[in-house]
Amino acid sequence: MIIDDLNALAGKERAARKKFTIRCCLAAGCMSSNSGAVKKSLEQAVKDAGLENEVEVRGVGCMKLCCEGPLVSVEPGNLLYEKVAPDDARELVAALKGGKTELKTGDLNHPFFRRQLPIVLANSGQIDPERIESYIAADGYQALHRVLRELTPREVVEAIVKSGLRGRGGAGFPTGIKWGTVAKTQSTQKYVICNADEGDPGAFMDRSVLESDPHAVLEGMAIAAYAVGAGQGFIYVRAEYPLAIKRLQIAIRQAKQRGLLGSGIFESPFNFNIDLRIGAGAFVCGEETALMMSVEGKRGTPRPRPPFPAESGLWGCPTLINNVETFANVPPIMRRGAEWFAAIGTEKSKGTKVFALAGKIRNTGLIEVPMGTPLRVIVEEMGGGAPDGRKIKAVQTGGPSGGCIPVEAFDTPVDYESLTRLGSIMGSGGMIVMDDSTRMVDVARYFMEFCVDESCGKCIPCRAGTVQMLRLLEKILARQATARDLAKLEELCDMVKHTSLCGLGQTAPNPTLSTLRFFRREYEELLVPEGNGQIQRPSDAPRL
Ligand SMILES: Cc1cc2nc3c(=O)[nH]c(=O)nc-3n(C[C@H](O)[C@H](O)[C@H](O)COP(=O)(O)O)c2cc1C
Ligand code: SF4
Repeated sequence: MIIDDLNALAGKERAARKKFTIRCCLAAGCMSSNSGAVKKSLEQAVKDAGLENEVEVRGVGCMKLCCEGPLVSVEPGNLLYEKVAPDDARELVAALKGGKTELKTGDLNHPFFRRQLPIVLANSGQIDPERIESYIAADGYQALHRVLRELTPREVVEAIVKSGLRGRGGAGFPTGIKWGTVAKTQSTQKYVICNADEGDPGAFMDRSVLESDPHAVLEGMAIAAYAVGAGQGFIYVRAEYPLAIKRLQIAIRQAKQRGLLGSGIFESPFNFNIDLRIGAGAFVCGEETALMMSVEGKRGTPRPRPPFPAESGLWGCPTLINNVETFANVPPIMRRGAEWFAAIGTEKSKGTKVFALAGKIRNTGLIEVPMGTPLRVIVEEMGGGAPDGRKIKAVQTGGPSGGCIPVEAFDTPVDYESLTRLGSIMGSGGMIVMDDSTRMVDVARYFMEFCVDESCGKCIPCRAGTVQMLRLLEKILARQATARDLAKLEELCDMVKHTSLCGLGQTAPNPTLSTLRFFRREYEELLVPEGNGQIQRPSDAPRL
């Protein structure tokens, strides 16, 4: 493949566009409500109406407003149809030609859509994720070509540093600095890993990106590999994501067939291959050192750092590990420039962030907003507030490693530092909204139970401490705990946070600590006077 071939393919794909495009969401959310059958019905209805030369029915990725699925959009007209059933196909196709329709249409001017700034999700709901030509027609692989032809690896690293991109997997580490460290480390073999483990309850951002735009991740990884000097990449994706796995397999195969992965990419000396590694769905395997153990075929348990993967990672070689969304940001940055990206967001948090909005909120689905957007805008304007006339109480960000932010703090801009100051974290982008019927001690218990289940057991503070904390939370909920138990819980939180080996244990107390900070009264109301407390062993907590 040379650039003329790439441009010719893009031109051919654009020229083949028909007068109307009907896009049908085939991401996991809509697929679970039968959108596969909707697409088939639409194809049949187009055929029956004799409109095959005028109408393309395209299967696309996530259209974001998941709660209203199956979703179908129509161009021109920028129309969105919601909750479409296979039987609606005939009416929908007739409406293209001015026929009347009673089908439920979405308001694309609603803040849920209007407030979004799609960079990572720009192709989501637009292109066919199973056809490389569709991605190429949307300027796909142009960034890789530009990088290989015009820039040295060092210039690529400098561009990523200048863009201000920070890791989207949770900790927000500056991506350019990480790339620079791997680039500088001398070795004949280096690796690039894409972390697609996504284990946080309520999170589905990475899954949607992989299902909707897999080539963006492959292109981002290839650019990273050129920058750091790696020849082999792995995508570590959990087995619970079969559709993402299928689309990645198709994308890798097509990219290899087109010469966009493999040897001598764009007739340059650059060689790069990508293989998939399927994880068994352990939360701890998202932690980078455990993930690498798992890729090596060993049991996935964390190890102490240093050495960091950038210096000694897979099989002891320098390894760059980034999250799905981090890699998906790379092609637009290299196409549109570091300055363009750095102008979006806040001083220290650049670009946009994809969030999965879930819980007690009207509009659930995927959103992508500039960093610094206040929580109130996300939850109340975009999310539409709580359903059933209830009031929003808090939002949980960062999953089991994060915390609960009360409604009083909703003017906080969403960026790495502000959320950390509130005792939560940005995390990978799960956002679970709670209304006034939620008991915050229950929330703390839920996340602690998750950590007990997912702790790998390698170090004592986490293995034993999370079990003890769960027991104390259950004792509080059973109204058998005293003020002394609460103090003990706080002491344990502090100990586990500061002595655990990896991020799972170090952050496991966060949901408890943040609910204690903002909703302490809810804990205290459940306490009994000293002397009434009884030792309770919850039946479902593992024994020590
Ligand atoms: C328990 C645990 C689970 C994690 N799970 C994920 C995950 O599912 N996806 C992810 O990208 N990072 C996860 N991380 C963070 C990774 O260790 C690592 O920091 C990240 O992949 C780096 O990529 P980034 O710099 O692009 O964010 C997890 C960390 C911990 C401690
Ligand atoms: S902190 Fe927990 S998950 Fe991490 S190594 Fe220790 S026991 Fe395993």
